[in-house]
Amino acid sequence: MSLQDNRREYDYGKLSRESLLDNPFAQFKRWMEQAIEADIQDPTAMSVATVNAEGKPWQRMVLLKDFDERGFVFYTNLGSRKATEIEGNAQVSLHFPWLQLDRQVIVGGRAERLSTTDVMKYFLSRPKGSQLAAWASKQSSRVNSRQALETQFEQVKAKFSKGEIPLPDFWGGYRVVPEEIEFWQGGENRLHDRFCFKRDNNQWTIARLSP
Ligand SMILES: Cc1cc2nc3c(=O)[nH]c(=O)nc-3n(C[C@H](O)[C@H](O)[C@H](O)COP(=O)(O)O)c2cc1C
Repeated sequence: MSLQDNRREYDYGKLSRESLLDNPFAQFKRWMEQAIEADIQDPTAMSVATVNAEGKPWQRMVLLKDFDERGFVFYTNLGSRKATEIEGNAQVSLHFPWLQLDRQVIVGGRAERLSTTDVMKYFLSRPKGSQLAAWASKQSSRVNSRQALETQFEQVKAKFSKGEIPLPDFWGGYRVVPEEIEFWQGGENRLHDRFCFKRDNNQWTIARLSP
C-alpha cells in the first residue's frame, strides 16, 4: 500500500477577505451552520489539545455543546487526563476537521471551568444512559476489563433506579475563551485560503496567512 498517491484537489470553495465576516464568532456560526446543513458526520466534534507538566501535548475528540462570544463549551470528567492537564495549564487548542467542506477551524485560548449551575443544566438534559455512564466511568483511569465496566454501569443503574440521577461532583465542563481563531479553506493546487483572527485588547485583528 502506498500512501503517496493518496491525494485530491481541494475545490469546494474559496474564502476571500470580502466574504469573511469581521466577527470570528459570526464566521464560526456561519461555517457551523453550513457543516450541519451539509450533513457531515459529527459536525460538532473537535479535537482538544492540552499539554502536561512536562510540556508534552496530547489530544482527543470531544463534542462542542455551546458557543457564543464568550467561547466554546464542552463537558467531561474532571478527573480525566484532559481535565488534569487543563488544571495545570489552561492553554488549549481546539480543532474542527470539516473535511467534506475542505475546511478546518483552529482555536487557541484558555479553558475556564463552567459553573455548577451551567453543568447541572446540561447534565439534566442528557439521556439517562449517558448520565449513568458518567457515574460508572472513572475516565482515563485503568480498568481491568470490559466486564468490570459493565458491572459498574449495572451497579449505578440499580443505585439510581428511582428519581433523578444526581450530578457527579467529578463531572463538569470548560469554556475555551479564544485568543486566536483560524479559518482554513482548501484551494486548488494547494493554494489554500487561511485567515487568522487574533484578539488584541478585545479587538480582533485579521491576517491572511500563506498556505
Ligand atoms: C466523536 C467523539 C466525541 C467525544 N465526545 C466527548 C465529550 O464530549 N466529552 C468527553 O469527555 N469525551 C468525549 N469523547 C471521548 C474522548 O475522545 C476521550 O477518549 C475521553 O474524553 C478521555 O480523554 P482523556 O483521557 O484524554 O481525558 C469523544 C470521542 C469521540 C471520538
